[in-house]
Amino acid sequence: MTVVGPFGLSVRDQALEADVQAGMAAVEEGLLEATKSEVPFITEAAQHLVKAGGKRFRPLLVMLAAQFGDPYAPGVVPSAVVVELTHLATLYHDDVMDEAAVRRGVPSANTRWDNSVAVLTGDFLFARASQILADLGPEAVRVQALAFERLVTGQILETAGPQDGRDPVDHYLDVLGGKTGSLVAVSCRFGAMMSGADETVVDVLTQYGERLGVAFQLADDVLDIASDSTESGKTPGTDLREGIATLPVLRLRERAARLGLADDLALCELLASDLTDDDRHSEALRLLRAHPALEQARRDTVRYAEDARAALAPLRECDAKTALVELCDAVVHRAG
Ligand code: IPE
Ligand code: IPE
Ligand code: MG
Ligand code: MG
Repeated sequence: MTVVGPFGLSVRDQALEADVQAGMAAVEEGLLEATKSEVPFITEAAQHLVKAGGKRFRPLLVMLAAQFGDPYAPGVVPSAVVVELTHLATLYHDDVMDEAAVRRGVPSANTRWDNSVAVLTGDFLFARASQILADLGPEAVRVQALAFERLVTGQILETAGPQDGRDPVDHYLDVLGGKTGSLVAVSCRFGAMMSGADETVVDVLTQYGERLGVAFQLADDVLDIASDSTESGKTPGTDLREGIATLPVLRLRERAARLGLADDLALCELLASDLTDDDRHSEALRLLRAHPALEQARRDTVRYAEDARAALAPLRECDAKTALVELCDAVVHRAG
């Protein structure tokens, strides 16, 4: 049994392990190739985050989903490159939106250069992803375009906040499905689709990816509060600083409204204040880390991961399925 990748998946089958490792190595090569430009500065900016690492979660899903058809089919590796490039592009843009200074343990592009460079490099990555997609056919282009629309809509809805009368948790879960579930679902879809898996298998894996993506983002939102930057490669408390209410904050607000405890109400007030002030920010982070609302959000995350696992039920038993089942635990218990 070998432990594969940053999620510590234990893969028993040597053929599966070899397939996944060969696929992931080919993706690395594809990413370096796809981020080369005639303009040296663009290459440097585009490869900045590629070379900084990252978990390669989405390409890993492509490889595992491709096990349900022919994993060596020609579209598998390019489609994995497409999803990682798309993800990367959204990271360049997201760090501008979130004014984030650190990404993948290195200065974000907006910090190393400036917002314009970060935005345009993100656009460059989308352009390169589109070129690869064009060779994968119109259906692949459509699948990617629809997911990308959902992703952007999620990011915009997050910024806009819930409309009057809308339940904030429902709004938040919609945002997560859009900004993260969409591309994780496409990763599974592409792997299955490119490998020529049955239509029903493609649908099952897409549904799994959607739910896994939401669980993954819920875990990310918990980690934003609970982790330190050596594990996550990001600055803790970025969501708080930006005034983005993620599930731990929403659960706190619900509890404050329900029980009316003075400490809860005081923390809600602190969270609603300007947290670009460093002292207030670290106090809010300290209190939230110790608050039962954080535990409640962790339990919610586990529930979503269990829903993802349940989606796999129709698939035949095989080592790839076991790995996908394991991933449900791994995404919620990860440290970064
Ligand atoms: C970060 O994604 C943004 C989210 C959708 C949570 P990842 O956690 O996959 O980031 P990298 O690729 O490992 O850096
Ligand atoms: C960003 O969500 C999701 C996308 C990039 C689409 P976050 O803002 O929570 O991601 P991190 O924490 O910066 O990675
Ligand atoms: Mg962010
Ligand atoms: Mg985050």
